[in-house]
Formats: sequence, C-alpha cells, structure tokens
Amino acid sequence: MDLVDIFPAYGVRIECGPLTLRALRESDVPRICELVADGIHAEGERPFLLTWNLGDNQPLGSLQHYYAQWAGFSADSWSLMLVVERDGVIVGVQDVMAKDFPIVRCAETGSWLGLSSQGRGTGTLMRQAVLAFAFDHLGAVEMRSAAWADNPRSHRVSEKCGYVDNGYRLGVREGVCVREDQFLVTPERFVRPPYELVVSGLEPFLAAIGVAGS
Ligand SMILES: CC(C)(COP(=O)(O)OP(=O)(O)OC[C@H]1O[C@@H](n2cnc3c(N)ncnc32)[C@H](O)[C@@H]1OP(=O)(O)O)[C@@H](O)C(=O)NCCC(=O)NCCS
Repeated sequence: MDLVDIFPAYGVRIECGPLTLRALRESDVPRICELVADGIHAEGERPFLLTWNLGDNQPLGSLQHYYAQWAGFSADSWSLMLVVERDGVIVGVQDVMAKDFPIVRCAETGSWLGLSSQGRGTGTLMRQAVLAFAFDHLGAVEMRSAAWADNPRSHRVSEKCGYVDNGYRLGVREGVCVREDQFLVTPERFVRPPYELVVSGLEPFLAAIGVAGS
C-alpha cells in the first residue's frame, strides 16, 4: 500500500500548458517555506485574511497548517492543497476548499505565488486550471473567491477568469476594518485556460469527496 491509497488527495495532478498543479506533500513544505520567507508581497501590503506569512511562528506555522488541513480532510469539509510548478520549478500554492460539496457543488479557491514569479500570467493560469478542474472534473456549478478591497492583482485575476461581483463583507485585518470583496464564477461565464488539462488521480479523489460515479 502507498500513502495515496490511504489519502487519495495526494494523487491529484493537473497539467495545464507550462503549469503543473500537484498535491502538496510533506516533502514539499521546506521549499514552500523558503518561498514564503523570500516574500509573497511587497512590504506594507496585506493580501491575506490572516497575516500568516509574516508571523513569528513561521516556518513551523506553515507546516502545522498543512498538517491540520490533511488531518481535517473529510467528504463534508476538505481542502485540496496544490503545489504550483511552472516549467518544473515550484512557484506557489493553489488551494481549493469546500464544505458539503456533493450537495452544494460549490467550492472556494485561494492562492499565492513567490514574489519573483508574479506578474507574468501564472496567477491567472493557475486559477483557470483549478477552475477547469472543478467545473469539468469535480462537477462544480459555482466557484467563489474573495480578496481584500486593496488587493488589485487578485481582483484582476478574478476579472480575467470571468468572475462577477458577489457582494462584500467587512472583516478585521490587524485590528482595522477592511472590505473583503466576494466574487463568483459559473461554467457559463468562465474564461477558460488556453490549454487542455491533463488530469490524473481523479477517480480516487472523487470517491474521497463523495461524488464518485455522479
Ligand atoms: C494574486 C496573485 C496570485 C496573482 O498572480 P500573478 O501571476 O501576479 O497574476 P497575473 O500576472 O496572472 O495577473 C495579474 C494582473 O493584475 C494586474 N495588476 C498588477 N498590479 C496591479 C495593480 N496595482 N493594479 C491593478 N492591476 C494590477 C496585472 O497587470 C495583471 O493583469 P493584466 O494581465 O490584465 O495585465 C499574486 O499576485 C500573489 O500571489 N499575490 C500575493 C498573494 C495574494 O494576493 N493572494 C490572493 C489572496 S486573495
């Protein structure tokens, strides 16, 4: 038996042109933590809900977060964490999270890239890749994303992928009230990636999230 037989999410792999999105493994965490340490955003910017990447508890905090996501995986509530490689080099992470997916067929995404890998279309392509995976392979009918109002790159990526506004909520960031804009995209509005996806490890993952054979 291999680990992937016990934890099917480890087998998910999505190829999309120059990008490969593959399940994050424990052995990837050191490289991911190096990218975090090298910087994900300019000084003063705060793109994340929590300022996890700037905390004193890094890199241990990242490892603990990943263990918590793996440990908490269930069909009712899961998080698929994908390492993003561009031309074979790890550049960031793309997540998909869902609750009650077999019933609601809706999931949310989150992502980041190392600063030196930003601004050349990778953020858009990895979002398109994961949306195509969700719509075409998982059977999602709606996908959601959210970003602080002062995160124009994330807003622009959402716009380029075809999302529409879905309201906002007021959140607290470092003790200050900030607007978090919400977006959603459906298969009809989705702006597809310019490459066909090559997906592997799908069937066991579908069984793990309770949508096998549907
Ligand atoms: C968000 C993120 C994943 C996007 O990745 P990326 O590779 O830089 O994105 P792309 O190059 O595909 O697209 C970025 C778009 O934003 C635009 N953009 C960049 N800076 C901008 C600014 N200050 N104002 C408006 N648009 C801006 C770019 O011009 C580009 O749009 P275009 O293709 O129409 O020119 C990446 O910037 C990142 O990791 N940021 C930090 C973490 C983060 O914000 N994560 C999301 C949390 S919600």
